[in-house]
Amino acid sequence: MKKTSESIVRLMAEKYALDISIFSETFIENTLESRLQSNYPDTSSAYQLKLETDPNEALFLKKAFSNSYSAFFRNPLTFSMLHQFVLPKIIGWKVKNHDPEIRIWSAGCAAGQEAYTLAILLDNLVNKSPGSMRYHVFGTDNSAPELEAARRGIYDYEAIKNIPFEYVQDYFLKTGDVYAIKDRIKKQVEFSDFDLLDGESSSPPSSIFGDFDLVMCSNVLFYYKPEFQMTILAKFFRTISEGGFLATGEAEVGIVNAARGFRQYMTPAPLFVKS
Ligand SMILES: C[S@@+](CC[C@H](N)C(=O)[O-])C[C@H]1O[C@@H](n2cnc3c(N)ncnc32)[C@H](O)[C@@H]1O
Repeated sequence: MKKTSESIVRLMAEKYALDISIFSETFIENTLESRLQSNYPDTSSAYQLKLETDPNEALFLKKAFSNSYSAFFRNPLTFSMLHQFVLPKIIGWKVKNHDPEIRIWSAGCAAGQEAYTLAILLDNLVNKSPGSMRYHVFGTDNSAPELEAARRGIYDYEAIKNIPFEYVQDYFLKTGDVYAIKDRIKKQVEFSDFDLLDGESSSPPSSIFGDFDLVMCSNVLFYYKPEFQMTILAKFFRTISEGGFLATGEAEVGIVNAARGFRQYMTPAPLFVKS
């Protein structure tokens, strides 16, 4: 890591009790770079002095380290493969084993876009499958404002623009410029606070016992240093049921392939099966 970055990591920990050393070096350097360029183009030492003397700048920097961008159907290939192959396979083995509940965890769910996308796909498939299948999606994040927005379930056009039109019609109520997720879907998704770096539990307490058929954790792992990525993946390994699935972001395939316990299910999609 660059010397300036190292001293800023130390400064944030000592003066503001914020540990940014858990993040990957690339993420730390890019974040500092963009903060510096947009505000302090002259020298990095001027920026360090500003950070030392101005708690507001520390707050801005803290915010810059918490990226919560998300969107419905964010990676269309992943969601289309989930819809066509992975979820039908899960439904098939549930029917075969007379197990009526599908359990899914959206880990690092931001304002709920990913968790609701999964619920929409499940609703669509379960309605077409024989028998009375139930599904439950657990959405977790460590950001209180994101969880609040997730529970509200109201989105602007930017968030929903990738959604196939028939799903927008079926699953949202449009009022003015905003789209509210319908109650039928909302009641299948439960949001709760859970820190993926929490050393104690492998799964969110709201889920009681974990045992997920699919965990989706997308665009979260790559922000962290490799040892923290491995801690999170080990957690998923413990909580995914035998033969269950893991989905990540496109840029995170290499991270999962470098870990033990998962095999890529279908290239190039970031979909893995517990093995
Ligand atoms: C970039 S967003 C990705 C959202 C969504 N998964 C997607 O791919 O669109 C990352 C989310 O992960 C959450 N997050 C990051 N680190 C976390 C942690 N250690 N525990 C729980 N949530 C975390 C952030 O608060 C943020 O909402």
